[in-house]
Amino acid sequence: MSIVTAKEIMLPAAENKYAVGAFNITNLVQMEAVVEAAIDKKAPLIIQTSVKPSQFLGRDVLVAIYRTLAESAPIPICLHLDHSTNVEYCKQCADAGYTNIMIDASKQPFEENIRQTKEVVDYCHAIGGISVEGELGTVSGVEDQIKVAEDEAALANPTQAVEFVERTGVDIFAPAIGTAHGVYKTKNPKVDFERMGKINQLLNSDEVKTPLVVHGGTGLPDDYITKLVEVGGAKFNVSTELKHTLINTTYNYISDNREQYDPGKIDVAIKDAIREVVGRWIDILGSAGKA
Ligand code: 13P
Repeated sequence: MSIVTAKEIMLPAAENKYAVGAFNITNLVQMEAVVEAAIDKKAPLIIQTSVKPSQFLGRDVLVAIYRTLAESAPIPICLHLDHSTNVEYCKQCADAGYTNIMIDASKQPFEENIRQTKEVVDYCHAIGGISVEGELGTVSGVEDQIKVAEDEAALANPTQAVEFVERTGVDIFAPAIGTAHGVYKTKNPKVDFERMGKINQLLNSDEVKTPLVVHGGTGLPDDYITKLVEVGGAKFNVSTELKHTLINTTYNYISDNREQYDPGKIDVAIKDAIREVVGRWIDILGSAGKA
């Protein structure tokens, strides 16, 4: 049951009002820690790589490690390419064995976003065993190679969202609703729950067909997360929190153990810290025990 698409694990999540955690990793230690945390919690899992880490580590290497970990895991696991703005790169990662591909043409005009997204959908569906995520509106902040200023960010229009999903055939959909990549500047970010609910109602009211994704998980208050799950969020992306955990844990470990030269011990400290963060997310999202 272990190698799955994002859509396969998001459909039951959306139907039963919980969400699947989607965690961006930048190295093997993080990847193993995320998998171990999800196994501990018996939770379905989406492992994500942004474009730069996938190029640095190599998509074939990442897929080989993913398959090795997922095939022996008692939980379903998806490998997702996050925010690729390049159609050709999406196709290369699909060929390599990623099981969910996000084409992010959200900065393009509406018609061009549809054209590029549909091209990736058609390609991935022809291969089979791959779902595709598209985005409408723009999420502010910095994620990998993508920067969107706050005053540039645009929320997704619900009527256009329906047209986008119908014309592209995307499997899962990320509407911009006011969440942001990176660290939130205020304690109470302005998130448009109503817009999310409306889009979910338009797309999924009779039966769930196109589950929804929430970007910008880091720093979202717990009650926002619960509310977003209620109005249709079935995948939550978390990246910055894992990067900070990796770097802070490494820094603290080295500061406390300056005379020690055993890299394995740093890895153990990082794994423990990441497992804790991921476990907390799984509990809030309500996906523990759902694998
Ligand atoms: P954060 O970095 O804010 O957690 O956002 C992650 C994300 O949405 C990746 O697509």
